[in-house]
Amino acid sequence: MCGIVGYAGRREAQPILLDCLKRLEYRGYDSAGIAVAGKGLQLFKSKGEIAVLESKMPRMPGTVGIAHTRWATQGKPTTENAHPLDDCSHRLAIVHNGIISNFMGLKESLVKDGHRFASETDTEVFAHLVESELKGDLVDAVSKALRQVEGTYAFAVVAADRSEIVATRRESPLVVGLGEGENFLASDVTALLKYTNRVVYIQDDEVVRVTMDSVSIRGPSGELVEREAQKITWSLEDAEKGGYPHFMLKEIFEQPDAIHDSLLGRIETLETEPFFQGDSFTSVKVVACGTSYHAGLVGKYIIEELAKIPTTVQISSEYRYSPVARESPLVVLITQSGETADTLGAAREARKRGNKTVGIANVVGSAITREVDHVIYTRAGPEIGVAATKTFATQLAALYLLAMDLGVQNRVLTAQAKRSITGSLRNLPRAVQDVLNQAHLIEALANKYSGAKDMFFIGRGINYPVALEGALKTKEISYVHGEGFPAGELKHGPLALISKESPVVAIAVKDHTYERMLGNISECSARGSPVIAVAFEGDTEIAKYVDDTIRVREIPPIFAPVPIIVVLQLWAYYLAKAKGCPIDKPRNIAKTVTVE
Ligand code: AGP
Repeated sequence: MCGIVGYAGRREAQPILLDCLKRLEYRGYDSAGIAVAGKGLQLFKSKGEIAVLESKMPRMPGTVGIAHTRWATQGKPTTENAHPLDDCSHRLAIVHNGIISNFMGLKESLVKDGHRFASETDTEVFAHLVESELKGDLVDAVSKALRQVEGTYAFAVVAADRSEIVATRRESPLVVGLGEGENFLASDVTALLKYTNRVVYIQDDEVVRVTMDSVSIRGPSGELVEREAQKITWSLEDAEKGGYPHFMLKEIFEQPDAIHDSLLGRIETLETEPFFQGDSFTSVKVVACGTSYHAGLVGKYIIEELAKIPTTVQISSEYRYSPVARESPLVVLITQSGETADTLGAAREARKRGNKTVGIANVVGSAITREVDHVIYTRAGPEIGVAATKTFATQLAALYLLAMDLGVQNRVLTAQAKRSITGSLRNLPRAVQDVLNQAHLIEALANKYSGAKDMFFIGRGINYPVALEGALKTKEISYVHGEGFPAGELKHGPLALISKESPVVAIAVKDHTYERMLGNISECSARGSPVIAVAFEGDTEIAKYVDDTIRVREIPPIFAPVPIIVVLQLWAYYLAKAKGCPIDKPRNIAKTVTVE
């Protein structure tokens, strides 16, 4: 959802800004722009991806600047609406990630005061507000302008003839990178890894002034804030493609290691260092969006089975506005980015309602970590591809650990059960590696069915949400209309859609639902639909019912979602590849959704 970067140093700002910006392109690619301050103000922007900007822009000498890549919310994706936006005098340039919710009223009164607007964006009002307030100090002007805006934002502002960037945030991410004789700003640390691994996270309503040799942060009342820098352990290599054609494929193939890292050390220490010392809960609510929501749905089965605690799952944007009556004392918020606005809002709401909150997040230091009582990091490393893959698998790993811990606290897990669970968890990376070894087979099948416009994904029990996630991956990156259903529901409506034109991917592992699944598969094949099964190795029966089969290692069914989702991720990836889709940057989607 829009990426912003800033640079103040001794080197030319333009190439560094562009380089950092490219690493944020997963946040939006409707338009891009750059402004270099210092001697006067140079500004260049263009509709389309960063490559378009790069191919057109002139050299812009100067050592201080800001840049932006846009995911359009207010105003069409045009060059006029691209950021940076400037004021009437063309001496201020502003980049913004978020939404100014009261911009209409502000715009009306600014226009009455004689300001001329050049775009349809909400952002531009901030440029004119700062212009009106600028009497000398840029921090003062930004602070005064901020008092008038409502909404969510990360802003960065530069002004002609000044060697400083002033930036601020509310509910949108903003991090300062500390260098030697140079400092940086970005929406996400991955943009800065090439230049520094020392960062300071800016918090809501703080205003930061960044120059080449200083970073000073003011709190909401103007007080000076001292904050220790954090060291980021991710390497630049982690955030690069490393020979893979797409980040998504690299991230799919990183899953054995990611799951291993996610579990590392924790299985052993859970007993001596539980997540919840002495707490036991009568019910759990999981709250998340998109893929993280699907992880939550799988988590419901895991928690109910291992900890015997009734669990409900809700989409963050629904939870926030739902009545409080059916509350749970433990609310688990899942968000890989840790910056999803709806989930952050839900976390605040959960706390306000007096619940204990746990965040499952991938990005260390992200906003969710400040909104919850306890954080479980998924340790998946940076995920750049817009489609969530390794973060989903590691969210499941975290949920197994959480469920085990809750089960221990609730005294429902015997020592033998725990041993068997930990044994299965340790085997998960191998089960995933088995799937990766069959990538060529999955590619061949995806190619075979790549002409389909509609595709259905069915599963039962714990594999129903896996089917939903397979459908989401498919529609998100291949633009094939994928729908996920609980297999038993087909006959209540969706069967009307089934035909020989619509392949069905059926998750049919040998668990207590297997026989019923075979029945549901027959319902589809009887209507001419080709069926591709995801089944356990050694299942000799399934081939009689389906057209094609993809095998996963036989493991206890509660753990099967992990290798199965890897099959469906590869399926979606190869479908998208066959169709020539822009896999890492699907249309209309941004990796981190910082608007509600
Ligand atoms: C999945 O491929 C999507 N990119 C999307 O559904 C994502 O999972 C959702 O926006 C939630 O993001 P979060 O985990 O960072 O909160």
